[in-house]
Amino acid sequence: MTTNNPNNETVISELFTIRDWIRYAVSRFEASDIFYGHGTDNAYDEAVWLIMSALHLPMDTLNNFLDARITTPERSKLAGFIEQRITKHTPTAYLVNEAWLHGLKFYVDERVLIPRSFIAELLNNDLSNGDLNTDSLSAWIEFPEMIESAADLCTGSGCLGILLANAFPNAAIDVIDISQDAIDVANINIANYGLEEQITAIKSDMFSALNGKTYDVIISNPPYVDAPSMAALPAEYQNEPQLALGSGVAGLDHTHTILREAAKHLNEDGILIVEIGHNREALEAAYPNIAFTWLEVSSGNEFVFLLTKSQLE
Ligand SMILES: C[S@@+](CC[C@H](N)C(=O)[O-])C[C@H]1O[C@@H](n2cnc3c(N)ncnc32)[C@H](O)[C@@H]1O
Repeated sequence: MTTNNPNNETVISELFTIRDWIRYAVSRFEASDIFYGHGTDNAYDEAVWLIMSALHLPMDTLNNFLDARITTPERSKLAGFIEQRITKHTPTAYLVNEAWLHGLKFYVDERVLIPRSFIAELLNNDLSNGDLNTDSLSAWIEFPEMIESAADLCTGSGCLGILLANAFPNAAIDVIDISQDAIDVANINIANYGLEEQITAIKSDMFSALNGKTYDVIISNPPYVDAPSMAALPAEYQNEPQLALGSGVAGLDHTHTILREAAKHLNEDGILIVEIGHNREALEAAYPNIAFTWLEVSSGNEFVFLLTKSQLE
């Protein structure tokens, strides 16, 4: 990557080691107004991630390579990335084309939301913890190996669909998105994980192209940002597809559709799991007769609900 900043030529000629470049990136980030929130929350972690990933070095080799000198093309690439991170507020995930979700690495670029869903932790930890409280997913799915079909609606990069495949190894899985760009990226990740036999990516406006297909489990992390929050998004989030974020004035348009349509696409005893951000109060006010189960995630119990097919009918 080239850069327009004339100072970069000086920087490239003065900084040689990975330690030099991390120090420089931290100083530049600290002096800037960039926003953290796509996997790190401080300048040092952001710098280490950007530099190690851009150089294709595993993160746990940092100490071995701190004093390694890097080549001129590599320095030029780092200077460009640091500049772009600051001036365009491009998230690091897009610069290095990778994002991490619960220990799994996913290919990402500007065509998809950068993965960050609470449903990931439910699929990763919750299913195997043997907890029988109803706010734990394991209380609802006693035998994951018996799940035969599952869908991830609004799949974006396909990250949750891939976690579904890991959680339910015997299930045929559909991952669904309205955006062909997202479907293309999901297919890259499905291929990277060798899951082409188990996961099918389908372009569809919500359930419309599914022709009555039914599933044992449907999960969804749909767009759920309300209009006031959309208007105040930090620049980093404005670099993400806006189709992945906004959902009407109250942030619930997609969730209303899911609640209206999901029963038709669930098998007997099927369950629906949906993430809704900070909209619990508004959702419960809109559906006073539905007893939502709120699943416990690391930030509390107001972000992800579970409903059975019979509750949806
Ligand atoms: C919040 S992102 C979630 C992406 C991914 N599941 C994740 O957790 O990182 C929402 C996704 O919903 C998709 N989407 C928006 N409107 C849709 C619709 N009407 N039908 C299907 N997908 C839609 C967007 O393209 C975007 O990929």
